Amino acid sequence: MRQAGRYLPEYRALKAKSSFLEMVRTPALAAEVTLQPLQRFPGLDAAILFSDILVIPEALGQGYRFRDEGGIGMDYRLDTRTQIDALAPAAAVPEKLRYVADALVLLKKELAGQKALLGFGGSPWTLATYMVEGGSSDEFERIKLLFYTDRATFDALLEKLTAALIAYFQMQIRAGADAIQIFDSWGGIIAGPDYEGASLKWIRQIVAALPKDFPVILYAKGTAPHISDQAFTGVRVLSVDWTNDLAIVRRTLPANVAVQGNLDPVLLNTTPAIVTRETAKLLESMRGTTGHIFNLGHGILPQAKIECVEALVSTVTAWK
Ligand code: CP3
Repeated sequence: MRQAGRYLPEYRALKAKSSFLEMVRTPALAAEVTLQPLQRFPGLDAAILFSDILVIPEALGQGYRFRDEGGIGMDYRLDTRTQIDALAPAAAVPEKLRYVADALVLLKKELAGQKALLGFGGSPWTLATYMVEGGSSDEFERIKLLFYTDRATFDALLEKLTAALIAYFQMQIRAGADAIQIFDSWGGIIAGPDYEGASLKWIRQIVAALPKDFPVILYAKGTAPHISDQAFTGVRVLSVDWTNDLAIVRRTLPANVAVQGNLDPVLLNTTPAIVTRETAKLLESMRGTTGHIFNLGHGILPQAKIECVEALVSTVTAWK
């Protein structure tokens, strides 16, 4: 999940000097921000590259910015076949996003095998929502209209994104990522029976194109009805949001798929006592099971309190 960010004073200090995108595009800065949470909370056992899922649309030719009122604004709305055909070829992605590989190489060296290094990217569907909506969205009308009224154009966009992501993840693996996490943050907004055609089938194609047995983690928000189907895409880990009962998820999934999750990140805005209680409850519910990676059910919010994150990490690391 997002573990760097505005809740950390050391992140705010760096961001006072460089914009988010400058930090993402400068390997030494991206590596520094990636390591900030690990330096502050040494009990964390993985570093997730500081970057953003939207570097892919940007590399394809559709830039983005953070809107003053919050959320993402893309430079334009993409909804015609002509615009899709005008995007850069997928093969250009590794060269355009070379700064991501450079940051991973720096991190791999810095971590010296002591912590796992996670690369990541968005799912084709989640990226397509930003591209077609022209940014963050409330109702996702445009992407759904495209899906239901012009499937050929929708498929052309998703094919392009799938090819771009395969090239991007292969680059991240070459640069030293120990695992790749795919964020299907908006998988939950499409009608249940259409989740396969809109999102899951493209994720399956990506997993199949990566080296055999390379660990892929799939995080999808709001997709509880689809966990069994997700487990058969070839991913090694399913990361689930906080609305799931993790013990039930564990019982439902095959033993060769690990589960990751799923504390509600809002709890980190409360008190250390509440965080300790809720974290212990979650861990207790998983007692006796194997294949659980403790995590939040989504990214850390800017309002999270440092002492709450400390309580979380110490409860998990001291658990017996
Ligand atoms: O811990 C880490 O540093 C991981 C790096 C990471 C970021 N974004 C950095 C970031 C990861 C894994 C992401 C993924 C990402 N980015 C997703 C998928 C995961 C999810 O949260 O569902 C999505 C949808 C995005 C796009 C994005 N980037 C959004 C919607 C926002 C929030 C915009 C807002 O209004 O605040 C971002 C910003 C962002 N990406 C931040 C970080 C640390 C916050 C930047 C800041 O506050 O300065």
